[in-house]
Amino acid sequence: MDWILHNDEFIQEVDLKISKEDRGYQFGDGIYEVIRVYGGDLYTAKEHIDRFYASAEKVKIVVPYTKDVFHKLMYDLVERNEINNGQVYVQITRGAFMRQHHFPSDTSPVVVAYTKSVERPLELMRNGAHAIFLEDIRWLRCDIKSLNLLGNVMAKQEAYENGCYEAVLHRGEVITEGSSSNMYGIKDGILYTHPATNLILDGITRRTILGLCDELGITVQQTPMTKDQALDMDEFFMSSTTAEIIPLTQIDGNKIGTGERGTLTEKLQKAFEAKLNLGVQI
Ligand code: PDD
Repeated sequence: MDWILHNDEFIQEVDLKISKEDRGYQFGDGIYEVIRVYGGDLYTAKEHIDRFYASAEKVKIVVPYTKDVFHKLMYDLVERNEINNGQVYVQITRGAFMRQHHFPSDTSPVVVAYTKSVERPLELMRNGAHAIFLEDIRWLRCDIKSLNLLGNVMAKQEAYENGCYEAVLHRGEVITEGSSSNMYGIKDGILYTHPATNLILDGITRRTILGLCDELGITVQQTPMTKDQALDMDEFFMSSTTAEIIPLTQIDGNKIGTGERGTLTEKLQKAFEAKLNLGVQI
């Protein structure tokens, strides 16, 4: 059976005891990360760990170990569970206390992490997916990887109920990001994406993609797109830790560009894959 990390102990799931008054459970009072594992290695671990600590700090939760210890715990978990290709989910909550909104004075945070084997979504990467536009009704601190995901969950569900894979969220006319991904459009060889403000999560995959654009000589404009501009793009795609780069070939039933994976999207996918040392798969 798989091991679970509970604070600084590796335990079995049957032994995991979480209080009914854990503030993560009652208020979504905590933050999380999803880290990809390729070939038994944590991918872009430092970036994910830095963001975990940054999110925690923004909500005034103190992670109870150093980043080095945290990294080692994540690594040990992957090794113990013999994960080759998969992911680590890790969250920290403010801990358990009699229910009240303001922070308790002396509560210890609770960390839980577990692993899962996951395959790369190769079929979607090649053939793309469809999306819908939805108003972004989330709070104004989307830069924090908060456990409060109700706005995201509702958006994803709406996409699924409409036979789509993702929701392209917009505030008024301006596209922010996806329900669990970042969004990009390509027009005349220039890549457009929302700047990393409080309105989006500064995705680790996004940072990798912007680095690849630099290497490949693709001009990037971190300028928000409007919905009309998005529909007029030559190519459109989304990114996340688990999805990597998935072309979005239709939004609200409108074809983007040719309605198939675009050439620069494919080039970025291949460049992304080349860094994983998994051979050619896409
Ligand atoms: N989601 N924006 C949102 C709202 C997200 O939830 C995610 C990732 C991203 C992409 O970030 P990254 O490239 O660092 O994964 C952007 C994760 C995978 C999840 O909640 O499962």
